[in-house]
Amino acid sequence: MKHLLKLMDLSKKEINEILNLADQLKFEKKNGIEHHLLKGKTLGMIFSKSSTRTRVSFEVGMYDLGGSALFLSSRDLQIGRGEPVEDTARVLSRYLDGIMIRTFAQKEVEDLATYGSIPIINGLTDYCHPCQVLADLMTIRERKGALSGNKLCYIGDGNNMTNSLIVGGIKTGMEVSVACPNGYEPDAEIMAWAKKNGKFTCTSDVKEAAKDADVLYTDVWASMGQESEAEERKKIFAGYQINADVMSVAKKDAMVLHCLPAHREEEITAEVFEAHADEIFEEAENRLHAQKAVLVKCLGK
Ligand code: CP
Ligand code: NVA
Repeated sequence: MKHLLKLMDLSKKEINEILNLADQLKFEKKNGIEHHLLKGKTLGMIFSKSSTRTRVSFEVGMYDLGGSALFLSSRDLQIGRGEPVEDTARVLSRYLDGIMIRTFAQKEVEDLATYGSIPIINGLTDYCHPCQVLADLMTIRERKGALSGNKLCYIGDGNNMTNSLIVGGIKTGMEVSVACPNGYEPDAEIMAWAKKNGKFTCTSDVKEAAKDADVLYTDVWASMGQESEAEERKKIFAGYQINADVMSVAKKDAMVLHCLPAHREEEITAEVFEAHADEIFEEAENRLHAQKAVLVKCLGK
């Protein structure tokens, strides 16, 4: 695997290989077994948006693997003052062994891969969040024993998370249902692909989507970059919430996941969040293990 730009680029086999390696690395870390598979390698981490989980898990992940990581805020880099991506990519390729980037436009990530000569990992764009969904798939598989056959229901904004969850869910044999307000649907091409390649539905009816779900998932109503729409979105998304009423139509043993950060009483009630905190924080922990697997696949020999 050269890059991780979006999940659509990975085969089912590649996704399974990442998940298997992630499970192995998690088990070995818990048992004190170290693997310096990336000894002497350096990852550059470019951030144009805030981050807690992505930044810390990538940095700790590189350290665990015997390498190091550099935090590079785009505000301080020349790219923030207009230096072209083409030039930044060619320069950083001569210093680093890989780049993880969190930014707005998916094209910027794709351009880094085109013009640079080192692996590029997408740490979130407005379009998708592949690293998060690999950790989500890992968490579902851990708890349910398998991915295929589960119904994954996403409630809320058809955003970067939704796009990646649809692709990851369908590729691993899950049924995927999405409930969002009209006009806030996920990417149209991804939905068309999902309908052709698996069992996928998108509706504005929350309970219809959540019916018999094995996994319920939600994310913030206003993503990074949409702060000015936050108040308007609170009105539009009212009702697109995981709460006790929605849980009552899902399977009795349904899991609840959230990529975090969460806004209690907006997309999820505090009651449901706390009842499923074990799953949600295991999911956050799994970012570390899943990303170490991605780093080994992309930067390893
Ligand atoms: N879920 C996630 O990507 O978290 P951060 O924004 O804290 O990295
Ligand atoms: N949709 C959210 C995800 C944060 C991890 C955002 O883009 O802000």
